[in-house]
Amino acid sequence: MTTSGIRAQGTAALTELRDWQRALRDQFPIVTAHPDLAYLDSAATAQKPRAVLDTALTYLTTTNANAGRGTYPWANRSTALIEEARERVKRFLGDPDPARSAVHFTSGTTEGLRTLARDWLPSFLSDGDEIVVPVADHQANIEPWLEAQRLLARQGVRVLLRPMPYQPGSGDYDHRALAELAGPRTRFVAVTHVHHVYGGDMNVHRIREAVGPDAVICLDAAQSVGHVPVSVAGLDVDFVVFSGHKAMALPGTGAVWARQARGPAFTPGGWSGTPNTVGIASLTAALDWLDAAGVDRIERWTVALAARLTDGLRRLDAYEILGCQTSLAAGSPVQQRRGIVTFRHRGVDSGDLGFILFSHGFMVRSDQHCQGEAGEPTGSVRVSLHVYNEAEEIDRLLSVLASLE
Ligand code: ALA
Repeated sequence: MTTSGIRAQGTAALTELRDWQRALRDQFPIVTAHPDLAYLDSAATAQKPRAVLDTALTYLTTTNANAGRGTYPWANRSTALIEEARERVKRFLGDPDPARSAVHFTSGTTEGLRTLARDWLPSFLSDGDEIVVPVADHQANIEPWLEAQRLLARQGVRVLLRPMPYQPGSGDYDHRALAELAGPRTRFVAVTHVHHVYGGDMNVHRIREAVGPDAVICLDAAQSVGHVPVSVAGLDVDFVVFSGHKAMALPGTGAVWARQARGPAFTPGGWSGTPNTVGIASLTAALDWLDAAGVDRIERWTVALAARLTDGLRRLDAYEILGCQTSLAAGSPVQQRRGIVTFRHRGVDSGDLGFILFSHGFMVRSDQHCQGEAGEPTGSVRVSLHVYNEAEEIDRLLSVLASLE
């Protein structure tokens, strides 16, 4: 699709979904309380709708008790709430076989991936096995696998690390090179659904074909759950790990979904202590809210905003857009950008640009975004969008960026 076609489609989505979006934006107290500020850092953490805040307050003022301990009604209700939340996560992910899969709650994606690396991966791997690590993705999806490799090496088990191949420029995986690299000893492949710097959908539906039927695929869905539809039925992955707080639940929430079809069953080890019951209650409320809002529409809205921003940035010579250069339209054969746009000013340090933008009311992330060492050598400014963001915010941002050319 041509740039003008993409622009037309984005503009149509912004017009068609305007009333729907306004009604949703009004449900975010922190957003409506600060009309002069634009929160453009939802990839770091998302703002919370009133329904989620109300659920947390209601739980704490009517039911608060420790779960899995005690036999009185508040304790029983807290225990039941966690079990219900597990089923809710499975439904949200379109789990085709919920009787077989498992959900483990964590504080976020980092802890989820670390738990898998510590409690599951070592029992799955044998001497000479290979793991594919996405070395230009988020550190949270790199470090745990290196730690597992070191742990196994201390036990005399040698695991070979294969760096994930990437396509130059776009930041997408090179699925063809991955297919060439993967062999019978490739047992575990860590991938990311939406790249936290480059903003591209990483085409993870192509990973299974590349690595064959037996490898375990672990999906970091931190930037996709709540932003774009995530269906485990369509992806054929074994683990999905995500952060609840990026999907509008309270901070300190996240989950690991395990298909339990390849390798040993995932059962996190160790004494787990008191669960974050209020956080888990808020996660159920957030998933209810997202389903009611329609994640497919959230995706269309944020993709259209990102298209508006990339389009505008492309006309400003002082700026370089990182990663995914094409984008945008659904059904496009090339890589599609989601609601994340990262860029640099050719003459202004990104940290300074972040401060300048905040002086105009824009909250962005400006650093190296915890990317792995194979990623960008210098910092950049990241704009990450959600349903509460508006076209007017993008236009104001573009005019401030233009004034800095
Ligand atoms: N992982 C979060 C981010 O990319 C914190 O900003």
